[in-house]
Amino acid sequence: MNPSAPPPPPASIPGTPADAILARLAARFSCREFDGSPIDRAEIEAILCDGVEAPSSCNHQNWHFIVVSEPELKLRARDISGGNLHFAHCSALIYLCFQKGWTHDKFSIVQSVAGACYHMMLSAHLRGYACIWNAGIGDTDALAAMLGVPGTFEIQGALAIGRPKPSAPKIKAPRRPPAETRSWNRFERPAHALYPARPAPAYPYWRIRNSDNPFAEWNPAAWGWDRIADFRGYAVWAKSPLAGVYRSRRQGDATTLEIATLPDLPDGAHLLEVMPWGGTYSTELRRRYGAGVHLHLAELSPHNHLFILERLRQEGLSGANVHAELFAAGRLPHADASIDAAFLPQVLEHMPETSTILAEVARVLKPGGIAVISARNSRSRYGLYYRRRLSREMVPNQGPFAPLPAATVRTRLAAHFAIVEEFGISLAAAGDATRVDGWLRRFARLYVARVAKSASR
Ligand SMILES: Cc1cc2nc3c(=O)[nH]c(=O)nc-3n(C[C@H](O)[C@H](O)[C@H](O)COP(=O)(O)O)c2cc1C
Repeated sequence: MNPSAPPPPPASIPGTPADAILARLAARFSCREFDGSPIDRAEIEAILCDGVEAPSSCNHQNWHFIVVSEPELKLRARDISGGNLHFAHCSALIYLCFQKGWTHDKFSIVQSVAGACYHMMLSAHLRGYACIWNAGIGDTDALAAMLGVPGTFEIQGALAIGRPKPSAPKIKAPRRPPAETRSWNRFERPAHALYPARPAPAYPYWRIRNSDNPFAEWNPAAWGWDRIADFRGYAVWAKSPLAGVYRSRRQGDATTLEIATLPDLPDGAHLLEVMPWGGTYSTELRRRYGAGVHLHLAELSPHNHLFILERLRQEGLSGANVHAELFAAGRLPHADASIDAAFLPQVLEHMPETSTILAEVARVLKPGGIAVISARNSRSRYGLYYRRRLSREMVPNQGPFAPLPAATVRTRLAAHFAIVEEFGISLAAAGDATRVDGWLRRFARLYVARVAKSASR
């Protein structure tokens, strides 16, 4: 090499075409609301051609892509996926498959298909289309039967391409700051982004499955506030802030009962929701009280606020008098005796400790103010299901949690408040939302209490 030769230019120089293309690529975000219009077959073929320019392990190119464009098949694809409703309205759903037989112990075939998929995504994006990569395709046997895929091929995911509906959310999921995800010459990562795992001699990642993760740490105390805040702040973006997202059909009726336990509030009153996460309760609270009641959303991460505010907009609900407020380590930012009612639906069991937050809720409530607090009960069929099954799965996107004994929650509440009303929801492990009164409530899935701050506090 000639030592006097100028160094090669950096890959991207501001103002050059490369820089403009990279900026455009960085602006890509997933779309989950398509308008259903068709895209020319030639355009989809061009995107597929771009995709296979990706590298592949040993150049095997052992991938196979099945384009599903027929409306009837897309509807079936949506039904098989379970949750990915956008499959029905995209223009083309490209199933990502590979031929089984080679892995090089590092899933290199999976890495190769992933590279091709992302290349197709970027191609589609540059050509002006919207897209989303999906691992949530559902039962692959049902898909193989639908598409005639032989057993020697695996169906790994699906890339949905289309044109966005005008109303589709236009915000990009937040990215972690650089120092959290990279280091030079040795491993370094800030403590809040290092999540706990159960003690084990080794952590072979191929042992981890959705329904069976021997390393999953579900105890929020092992995580601590900072790591819970960090995890939830990004995980909420697993979905777009669309109307109805994160509203579980199973949980829906319980939500109605919990919200009905709150008191009526006049316009101008202040209602506090703690750790609302994806806004499933916040939207219902807005519907019940309207924009005249101040809705304080005490969250651990500003990313969750961004998500909830857009979700309110998507559901046609006013953002007026919504106060996005951060809290940390269980300490609320509100002034003493400033809140008329507080709502903590199934969040105590997500906290590393509960004494600080309960004292804080008592502090910020006005004398005579009401709090409705519910918790998943470990002394229930649900508790049994949690111990035997659920807690062996991956930690869910709403963060780690551990059900609490209803009696313990009651004792903790009684230390700060007068208990006005208490009941249980459902003796079944899941699904049912029947109210349970009397002594049996101690064994219900959810323990719900309406408590009051005594006027003398
Ligand atoms: C491998 C993979 C699988 C994904 N699976 C799904 C899925 O099944 N459903 C879905 O709604 N989003 C899915 N996503 C989209 C991610 O949630 C999304 O990329 C992420 O939240 C970042 O948002 P952005 O793509 O808008 O930047 C998947 C993404 C990847 C890379």
